[in-house]
Amino acid sequence: MHIEEITNKIHSMSLEEKVGQLNQAGLWDFELLCEEVRKGRVGSVILADSATAGNDEQQRVIIDQLNELQRIAVEESPVHIPLIFGRDVIHGYRTVLPVPLALAASFNPDAVEKAYRAVAREAANDGVHWTFSPMIDIARDPRWGRCIEGFGEDPYLTSKMGQAVIHGFQGEDNKKADSVAACAKHYLGYGAAEGGRDYNKAEISDYTLRNYYLKPFKAAVDAGTATVMNSFSEISGQPVASSRYLLHDILKDELGFKGFIISDWGSIEQLVYEGVAKDRKEAAALSANAELDMDMISKCYIDYMSKLVAEGKVSEEIIDKMVYRILYIKEKFGLLNNPYITHRQINYSEHFEITKQCADETVTLLKNEGILPLNTSKRIALIGPFLHEKRSLLGSWTLDADIDMVQSVAEAFADRVPDKDTLIFSQGDYLWDDILSELHNVDTVLVVLGESAKVTGENNCLANIELPQEQLELAKKMKRLGKKVIGVLCFGRPIALEKAEPYFDAILYAWHSGTYAAQSIADIVYGKVNPSGKLPMSFPRATGQIPIYYNYHAMPRNGMGYYGEGSNYLDCRSTPMYPFGYGMSYTKFAYSEARCEKAALT
Ligand code: BGC
Repeated sequence: MHIEEITNKIHSMSLEEKVGQLNQAGLWDFELLCEEVRKGRVGSVILADSATAGNDEQQRVIIDQLNELQRIAVEESPVHIPLIFGRDVIHGYRTVLPVPLALAASFNPDAVEKAYRAVAREAANDGVHWTFSPMIDIARDPRWGRCIEGFGEDPYLTSKMGQAVIHGFQGEDNKKADSVAACAKHYLGYGAAEGGRDYNKAEISDYTLRNYYLKPFKAAVDAGTATVMNSFSEISGQPVASSRYLLHDILKDELGFKGFIISDWGSIEQLVYEGVAKDRKEAAALSANAELDMDMISKCYIDYMSKLVAEGKVSEEIIDKMVYRILYIKEKFGLLNNPYITHRQINYSEHFEITKQCADETVTLLKNEGILPLNTSKRIALIGPFLHEKRSLLGSWTLDADIDMVQSVAEAFADRVPDKDTLIFSQGDYLWDDILSELHNVDTVLVVLGESAKVTGENNCLANIELPQEQLELAKKMKRLGKKVIGVLCFGRPIALEKAEPYFDAILYAWHSGTYAAQSIADIVYGKVNPSGKLPMSFPRATGQIPIYYNYHAMPRNGMGYYGEGSNYLDCRSTPMYPFGYGMSYTKFAYSEARCEKAALT
């Protein structure tokens, strides 16, 4: 269908039929959903059954169900327009990549694009037309659990990574069966939630908005993102879901975004609780007049839009513009001509190489007192709460992961060492005394530490981001026994390491690095892979330094220094523990004769 045909189609639709296209329904009651689709009251279905899909177990996608829903939409609904199915495919499908923040540590957008092509192939094969990714919210606060879903503190790196993900998902030919429509989120300022508490309001000046938070969204629009999701945020007193200035004037008019905007889960209805709309009907009017195109879940549009138009509170012209954008994307991604899913056999092992490369390139070496890499013939003991862990290596937002593909760190080490007597594994988590009697045979202990994926992601924020006390104790005990201690730290977010750092001779920051995390850790420890990860967020010394970020606008009174050095806290230095971009390797580099392409920069 071409532009003209879409416009003609819209003119032939009744108001109710148009409003149906603006409604995204959930997948709770299949029979009821079929009924709604049959009546033409649904334009899209989100393949999720709870508000925080990243934290809860989700039903697997059932292809026959999707094809049946599609058949009803195409053959039995009054408008015969196919549905667009969306699911949160954030950093992998069956095969899981490192969490996005870790991926940013690779500083390798080409690899990321290639990896997301593989993710798109897996997801599209199960009928996912549209993903709610990439998250391109600038994050300066590691207490915020969702910082792991984005690419850190730098607008440039975030822009590059966001574009790589969009290109990876969407591919070159959007009409191909393995092209998945992307969604840049959360527009706008979600990462600035006060105190690092999810869903909190944000105070952002226009200066900061345009110089930091907006930049990745401009890049996403330039990369052709099919959709954008509004954030739950209230910025300087105005919820984004009701802001015509942000949604229409900046995103659509100024940046030239051509796709459609989807609300975040229930965020239209949320306007009532935020006190800007007196009821759900007024909420629908506010969001529609801001030109927020599709309502995820709250049903405010489907319940009230026809009445609002009849009362003159929303113009039919605005509805037409919203429907146009949705049909434009359905057409662009080939849905109007090819609505059904043909499931093929995928060779998942083909995705090993690129997924493993991403994990290899994200693991970041923070300290090395001449101890790494190890020789596989060296006797070592391995202890710690993450030694036998699998689930949390994958990270948050892994709805469809195949846990059977994941190795624990213990398994990956055992695989790589020919002489099995070389490795002494503790079987306990915090208990390590099961191998106490054998410790006198080794001088080096590898301590595998970390945080559960369940304390990262949506609504999972922390007030303290130091290494948990009991984990610090473990490292201290090993030091007290006179051992060399290698810390492997599997955390989703940056943590504050000032107190812990002296107890480690080497620190390998392994993040939550996906299906092949353990293999990458083992390959780096044994020198098969040279570590190359570089931090995408500044690591504070202590929680109280937050927010701390490199692209800080220096002020004269603090000496204009690096990270504001010169204006110290009385009880802590002002510099970070590890700055943005920090990360060591086993190689020595020498830089010389630096040149700049331009003589002057604006
Ligand atoms: C999250 C979004 C997510 C949506 C759908 C919301 O709670 O904020 O990032 O895409 O749910 O699962």
